[in-house]
Amino acid sequence: MSDKKLIAPSMLAADFSNLAHDIALVNQSDADWFHLDVMDGVFVPNISFGMPVIKSMAKHTTKPLDVHLMIVEPDRYIQTFADLGADVLTVHVEACTHLHRSLQSIKAKGMKAGVALNPHTPVASLSHIIADIDLVCLMSVNPGFGGQSFIEATYEKVRELKTLINENKASTLIEIDGGVTNQNASQLVAAGADVLIAGSYVFSASDPTATIANLSAQVNS
Ligand code: DX5
Ligand code: ZN
Repeated sequence: MSDKKLIAPSMLAADFSNLAHDIALVNQSDADWFHLDVMDGVFVPNISFGMPVIKSMAKHTTKPLDVHLMIVEPDRYIQTFADLGADVLTVHVEACTHLHRSLQSIKAKGMKAGVALNPHTPVASLSHIIADIDLVCLMSVNPGFGGQSFIEATYEKVRELKTLINENKASTLIEIDGGVTNQNASQLVAAGADVLIAGSYVFSASDPTATIANLSAQVNS
């Protein structure tokens, strides 16, 4: 229970014209993971970046890569993301017809298997598979864009998910994605969150390094 709470800056909010700078910033900061959002313009109404960009980024990152696939048919690309160096690979439950198979495939390729839930998707959709999941990413905004407002109903979802994990004696991590700031971080961790993703809150700050440090200190004090 005293496990460190992790901070994962979302590179979606980084300066794409100066990624080397923002990668070095995260490398040297108190951040724990890099969160990389892959969008296909079909599962979500936006397109972000894909394999060539991640391949270039991975040459410079010194912390685990937490890759969030907001794409249809993610099974087609599991091997590709393993080859790119993903440490955690998260698929959306709404995009997986055979979720159990997808998770086994991710783990067989040496990655931690994550499952993301859209805001309307019930925690109970994972009740028969929770023990097979390394990480559940609760979307606290509608996926597709950074900089949106946090959905308050997420707190109750975190508590419900934590109960499901405990009931199953699972070691699944709870990750929160969207609208995370110093205003909701403590309450999220109190509800059971283990990993906080923060995009615009970090990169639109005048001092992103200090913002990461403060967020990490806030949830680990
Ligand atoms: C949204 C992405 C998030 C996004 C979070 O679809 O999955 O990871 O980058 O950005 P903020 O922290 O700005 O809400
Ligand atoms: Zn994300």
